[in-house]
Amino acid sequence: MGTDMKRTKCVKLLGIIMAILLMAGCASGAEDSKEPALLLGFSQIGTESAWRLGNTRDIQNAAEKYGVSLMLENANQSQENQIAAIRRFIAYKVDVIAFSPIVEDGWDNVLMEAKEAGIPVILVDRDIETVKEGLTTCLIGADFYNEGVMAAQYLIRKADSLGLEEVNIVEISGTVNSTPMRQRQAGFADTIAGDERMHIIESIDGDFLKSRGAECMRYLLETYGDDIDVVYSHNDEMTLGALPEIESAGLVPGKDIIIISIDGGQDAIDVLKEGRINCIVECTPNLGRELMETALKLKNGEEVSEVIHPTEQVFSDEMDVSTIEPRGY
Ligand code: AHR
Repeated sequence: MGTDMKRTKCVKLLGIIMAILLMAGCASGAEDSKEPALLLGFSQIGTESAWRLGNTRDIQNAAEKYGVSLMLENANQSQENQIAAIRRFIAYKVDVIAFSPIVEDGWDNVLMEAKEAGIPVILVDRDIETVKEGLTTCLIGADFYNEGVMAAQYLIRKADSLGLEEVNIVEISGTVNSTPMRQRQAGFADTIAGDERMHIIESIDGDFLKSRGAECMRYLLETYGDDIDVVYSHNDEMTLGALPEIESAGLVPGKDIIIISIDGGQDAIDVLKEGRINCIVECTPNLGRELMETALKLKNGEEVSEVIHPTEQVFSDEMDVSTIEPRGY
């Protein structure tokens, strides 16, 4: 091949490469310039449980699916961090603010600031306590009271089937002053109130953490030993922390002690299938789709529902547990 032909081939090849690069550039430029459907600031509580990680992932996936630009902030279990994040969202002039309040009290000032800035606020997962009107637009989250009711109803059926006459219950509760802690406790207590066999011998704060679940269980076993008939734990993480402590004390969870948990993450479902947990009331972390649809409606000035509760179920030794589908978190 002559030198001229080689040069011509080279120039053609370069031309093709440049054209491809240009086309790629245009394509990505087009994508970059595509306006997001809305800008959503979301303050997540932290990473305390498999549930929480699943919830964050679900919200990220939903944002991508709905073309929503998500400013996600992890508060590492601190209310101060959540308040600071909300103030950053206001300064950034996001279209909508969403957050999962770690506790119920103490939000009035920052939410007044959001209201004055004209930014609608959506509560995700947990509620707040306030006497002020119109600080938030919508709550998307589980009916925690009903979860407590379903846990207690299971226990009453179980006590009937075993013919128990006295039932000593220890309760390992979630973060003090959080909505799931308050309502899971109230729903359970109200439902067993009419049943004279049932006695809550102690309720102790496990903060929704696995390590605290283990500590609480150690203390409860030291204090009450084999007088404990039931552990009612407000989430899977604390339950999974408590089980090895029960086994170390020479007791068999699921047989010597009835174990009732809430959430339904894969690790706990696997233990339910082994028979070491008797009942898990579902609390779904999959709130992303509802969040995106509600935020988009708010941006478009449409009406939204005040409360959106997902449908939830109970997994227990009353069913064929082999039929439970993979949980995805
Ligand atoms: O608010 C929902 C609760 O918070 C879940 O039950 C728990 O696992 C999480 O940390």
